Amino acid sequence: MTRLALIMAMQVEAVPVIAALGATTVPPPTHLGPLPGRLYQSNRDGVDVTVAVNGIDPRHGVANIGTQPAALTTWATALHIQPDLIVSIGAAGGWAGRGAAVGDLVVSDGPVVYHDRRIAMPRFDDYGVGFYPSLPANRLAAALDAKLGTVTTSNSLDETDDDRRMIAANGGDAKEMEAAAVAWVAEMFGIPFVAIKAITDLVDSPTATADQFDANLDIATARLARAAQDLISFASATPLTDFGS
Ligand code: ADE
Repeated sequence: MTRLALIMAMQVEAVPVIAALGATTVPPPTHLGPLPGRLYQSNRDGVDVTVAVNGIDPRHGVANIGTQPAALTTWATALHIQPDLIVSIGAAGGWAGRGAAVGDLVVSDGPVVYHDRRIAMPRFDDYGVGFYPSLPANRLAAALDAKLGTVTTSNSLDETDDDRRMIAANGGDAKEMEAAAVAWVAEMFGIPFVAIKAITDLVDSPTATADQFDANLDIATARLARAAQDLISFASATPLTDFGS
């Protein structure tokens, strides 16, 4: 494999990854029209890596988290770079009751799902959940010293009772706000997809998610930086067909 695209939501998540990869900023493609994202590139061990970050919302001055920017950034990056593998990499919540701890790394196992798209009509119910494929990646997970788990996406940081029911139905292990959108675009392009998520917060803890996120972001981003380096080493030596067994 020669080309990897890492799609990231927040600049604060991406900075340690960009630094660890020695990636430098490159101009975004202008011929595609306005885009929210920023691109960084490096070549390591013969692997071209593009880190695409979703950028800043001009009105609110905060990171473009969530599925809309993630889909746009992935679409533009897929067109522009034509990567061999698209990776949704970033922070996520986990559940202590499902064995998670802050700083754990989760590699997607099986389909990536939504837990906030409830459409109680035949076939639209499954459409809402999405079930976007991810690459079998148990060998990658072992190389990254990561767990395998179900990655589940919504556009909210909190977890409502309805979310909880859907997450239970699909067995979520990492709850975040972009992977399903990235996976949807990857599937549209026919490009293999995997998610790599570091746990910043425990959803079933009494401490507010936002407080845990702030307190633990540095732990998680350091974990992501190490994971990105390990991913490049693994990808340089391993064909995509051998990421899983
Ligand atoms: N990103 C980090 N923690 C999260 C959570 N609990 N829910 C959604 N996105 C997150």
